[in-house]
Amino acid sequence: MRVAVLGAGPSGLAQLRAFEAARVAGVENLPEVVCFEKQSDLGGMWNYTWRTGLDEFGEPVHASMYRYLWSNGPKECLEFADYSFEEHFGKPIPSYPPRAVLRDYIMGRVEASDARRHIRFNHAVKWVEYSEETEKFSVTVKDLVADELVTEEFDHVVSATGHFSTPHAPEFEGLDTFAGRVMHAHDFREAREFTGRTVLLIGSSYSAEDIASQCHKYGAERVILSYRSRPTGYAWPEGIDEVPLLQRLEGSTAHFADGTSAEVDGIILCTGYLHHFSYLPDDLRLVTNNRLYPGDLYKGVVWQENPKFLYLGMQDQYFTFNMFDAQAWFAREVILGHVDLPPVAERQADIAEWRAREEAGTCADDEIDFQAAYIRDLLSYSDYPEFGVEQQADLLKQWKQDKKRDIMGYRNLGYRSTLTGSMAPPLHDDWINVLDDSAESFLLHNGVTDHPRARAALDAREAIVTTPITTRQDEPVRR
Ligand SMILES: Cc1cc2nc3c(=O)[nH]c(=O)nc-3n(C[C@H](O)[C@H](O)[C@H](O)COP(=O)(O)OP(=O)(O)OC[C@H]3O[C@@H](n4cnc5c(N)ncnc54)[C@H](O)[C@@H]3O)c2cc1C
Ligand SMILES: NC(=O)c1ccc[n+]([C@@H]2O[C@H](COP(=O)([O-])OP(=O)(O)OC[C@H]3O[C@@H](n4cnc5c(N)ncnc54)[C@H](OP(=O)(O)O)[C@@H]3O)[C@@H](O)[C@H]2O)c1
Repeated sequence: MRVAVLGAGPSGLAQLRAFEAARVAGVENLPEVVCFEKQSDLGGMWNYTWRTGLDEFGEPVHASMYRYLWSNGPKECLEFADYSFEEHFGKPIPSYPPRAVLRDYIMGRVEASDARRHIRFNHAVKWVEYSEETEKFSVTVKDLVADELVTEEFDHVVSATGHFSTPHAPEFEGLDTFAGRVMHAHDFREAREFTGRTVLLIGSSYSAEDIASQCHKYGAERVILSYRSRPTGYAWPEGIDEVPLLQRLEGSTAHFADGTSAEVDGIILCTGYLHHFSYLPDDLRLVTNNRLYPGDLYKGVVWQENPKFLYLGMQDQYFTFNMFDAQAWFAREVILGHVDLPPVAERQADIAEWRAREEAGTCADDEIDFQAAYIRDLLSYSDYPEFGVEQQADLLKQWKQDKKRDIMGYRNLGYRSTLTGSMAPPLHDDWINVLDDSAESFLLHNGVTDHPRARAALDAREAIVTTPITTRQDEPVRR
């Protein structure tokens, strides 16, 4: 039996780890697993690049992450059940690490396993087709370095190519004649582009609030958040305002639904992403908006029309890495035939029940409880280790409140790991002051000296001393 895993982000890697865990546990007759990844390294969205648009091979750039991104949720709510942060870093670290530190953690678990040998990097999946005759999938992949197409056959396919990469970019009157920069959040990289300038953000969800915070932190003169349904409602500091939806632009003047207007230098569409699968025919292609329980997926994973095709990570996400693990361990059990799938009508009824439950929710706490219940259900089908999903749900509710209380200060706080019981120390300085977010600086400032990255930085005397971005104490940025 052969299994193709498409994508080596946290979801695809979870699938590789799930099979490895079975191998280590002595399960016999495991399938051959091949993972196709179009980037040159693993980590998915966490594999930062300066590139936007098309990459060096002419493929769409996957990354939507920007340079100074920090985790927007406590790390205690994404901890892998089989690999704690403390195990990786040797001691508790603050709850909201910057991007490079989270990537280091993701890489650590992978490097401690045999996952890498299953991955074919620089291989972009171009087409997947199922043959009723052979009962196999043909997966056509472009080897980007050799510049050639290759087709191979598989018994199962797991699609884990993410859904926060293809921009949803609506039109607004006057954008085509606007004199400044217009981009989607997918292409945002460097907040200092807006130092001393006024930037208009459309949207009121995670990208909008986080890019607003970043631009403010790195010295934007003014940030305007323009919402469609509802404002974020946070108590923003001076310099960040919320207004109703942009109606039109005249030159560089933005006109809003409440009749107010503002001069703006740049516009960022923080208007979300499309579930986009250029490599799938209609009979295998998930069509959904960004929600907690997309349709047509039994247990949020198994494709209804063809249960040999599975998806990971297609939900909107409160939980992330450990939810992908729970899904991947479940997917493994389905592929190995250890879970008996009920008949199609029963699966449909199960999907309908979960979706009705999702739709009955009225607030963020309900959504968090819903996703925790979903994960708990998944866990009942596999031996993925216990990680205190309900306790983590409580932490997520606490996180929501902490954000509401102090949108610019919530990242200073620490939470208790449900795996190790250790309390995270507070961040070494107020988040708003920490302009150098390199892994080396973060680790050294937070007392993690016995870690390869920190040691290397110490040896090279590079960290903190010669880092190109000065801290607020050294050189206050203009805000
Ligand atoms: C701006 C931003 C910030 C975020 N911040 C956080 C955060 O702080 N905390 C958190 O927990 N989550 C965060 N997330 C959510 C993030 O999506 C998940 O953490 C995680 O990366 C999802 O993993 P994934 O493997 O499902 O998808 P991805 O990480 O998107 O990985 C998908 C992989 O598939 C590959 N791929 C895509 N198409 C093809 C193809 N045709 N052929 C071959 N390979 C392909 C990609 O190159 C990529 O490696 C953030 C997301 C965004 C967009
Ligand atoms: N630091 C971080 O960790 C970080 C930073 C950024 C993003 N993320 C992650 O990235 C993911 C995606 O977040 P996201 O904010 O990009 O997407 P999202 O949560 O799907 O939100 C999309 C936003 O776009 C708005 N929108 C959509 N169409 C619009 C239109 N035509 N006109 C005006 N507004 C429109 C929506 O408004 P309505 O409410 O009206 O629908 C909503 O506010 C999340 O999982 C998030 O956690 C993380």
